[in-house]
Amino acid sequence: MPYQLKPLACSPAAITGMSEKIIASHYENVYGSEVKRLNAIEARLAELDWATAPACTINSLKREQMMAMNSMLLHEVFFDSLGASKASRGLSARMDADFRGLANWKAQFAAMGKALGGNSGWVVLAWLPRDGKLVNAWATDHTGNVAGAVPLLALDMYEHSYDMDFGANADAYVDAFMNNLNLYAASKRLAAIAGI
Ligand SMILES: [Fe+2]
Repeated sequence: MPYQLKPLACSPAAITGMSEKIIASHYENVYGSEVKRLNAIEARLAELDWATAPACTINSLKREQMMAMNSMLLHEVFFDSLGASKASRGLSARMDADFRGLANWKAQFAAMGKALGGNSGWVVLAWLPRDGKLVNAWATDHTGNVAGAVPLLALDMYEHSYDMDFGANADAYVDAFMNNLNLYAASKRLAAIAGI
């Protein structure tokens, strides 16, 4: 069964400081392409003769599968991260415990995004079940995520996320993203995973 696109989780017209065009283009042209790419890789894997396939073919296809799958999943969290709203009591309490408050968490998360400006990657607020805590995870591609941690919010720092609206000014894009944080969506994810 091929992977299907999830509907766009945010309402582009409601996002301040970013154009509807860039969000729609990001969804259709990047996220949409990644889902198609994942399905094409899955089709190749389904046809593979695992007994005779050379290691380089297996390594290449499985690497591409992981890249496309994580890109699909992280983009879905990214679009769900847009749409200004407030954190639940549970998420606020974890922010207090793990980051000394929402303002400190925001400062750290935004600084991580700006530090990736000019490169590519993701900044992810994730729940780490191992220790029952929130972590800010950093990655320079789709594969660099904390093992076992579940993404709650994701900031896409690939240039396609901001070039159309902000040119090379990645900092302005990060500020716009932070002004539109959908903390309610993150709260719902946290509640579903951790019951908080
Ligand atoms: Fe993206």
